[in-house]
Amino acid sequence: MRSQPAGFDRLAPVYRALEFLAFGRDLERARFCFVPELIACRRILVLGEGDGRFLARLVAGAPDARVHCVDSSPAMLGLAAARISGAGAAERVSFERADVMGVALDPAAYDAVVTLFFLDCFTPAQVAAIERKVRPSLRGGALWLFADFILPARGFRRWRAKAWLRILYFFFHREAAVTVRSLPPSEEILIKSGFRRVAVRDFQGGFVRSSVFDLPGERT
Ligand SMILES: C[S@@+](CC[C@H](N)C(=O)[O-])C[C@H]1O[C@@H](n2cnc3c(N)ncnc32)[C@H](O)[C@@H]1O
Repeated sequence: MRSQPAGFDRLAPVYRALEFLAFGRDLERARFCFVPELIACRRILVLGEGDGRFLARLVAGAPDARVHCVDSSPAMLGLAAARISGAGAAERVSFERADVMGVALDPAAYDAVVTLFFLDCFTPAQVAAIERKVRPSLRGGALWLFADFILPARGFRRWRAKAWLRILYFFFHREAAVTVRSLPPSEEILIKSGFRRVAVRDFQGGFVRSSVFDLPGERT
């Protein structure tokens, strides 16, 4: 199965500014609101980390965690590494430039995985493949911290979300070579695979969601 081409290098320097122009601080609120859930984690996998804003919060909020970041964009990884270099946490963080579809993950290694505004870059079949790839690397009771755009159920909010999604997918197709054109049902895919949603917060009138899922089993 082919995944998305790594086209985010060109966007990396302006990604934050564009996000603020479009959505103010709400995407940051969605990224950061559940960081406290990860406080006790010891090994965390971050897929599609981006420019390191979440990573900087994470290394402060989960002080005993070692964090492995996977991203296909060298420019995004460079920004993330620079952002934490002064935070005294660089030795707890490793970076891997890789396509998520091809990355090799240690078995039963992580007690949390993070995907923020990442799974929306993939088709439903690819999201299911990512879940199947990540799953064996998780320990019992592991958490999946998720944030993404979602379609509100009805009304003006749904109409507005659809209009935004058309703009966003058009833009990311042109600028970052993202080939999908609609949101995958990522939360449903996780739930069908046995994850349980334990916390949720919506932003932007229900267009942006942050959720925490967990796997059955005792956290060790
Ligand atoms: C929309 S950005 C989201 C970045 C960040 N997580 C955030 O919250 O804004 C998607 C990120 O995933 C990375 N990415 C896209 N496709 C990927 C793939 N197939 N494998 C690994 N990383 C990928 C991009 O380089 C980019 O950093």
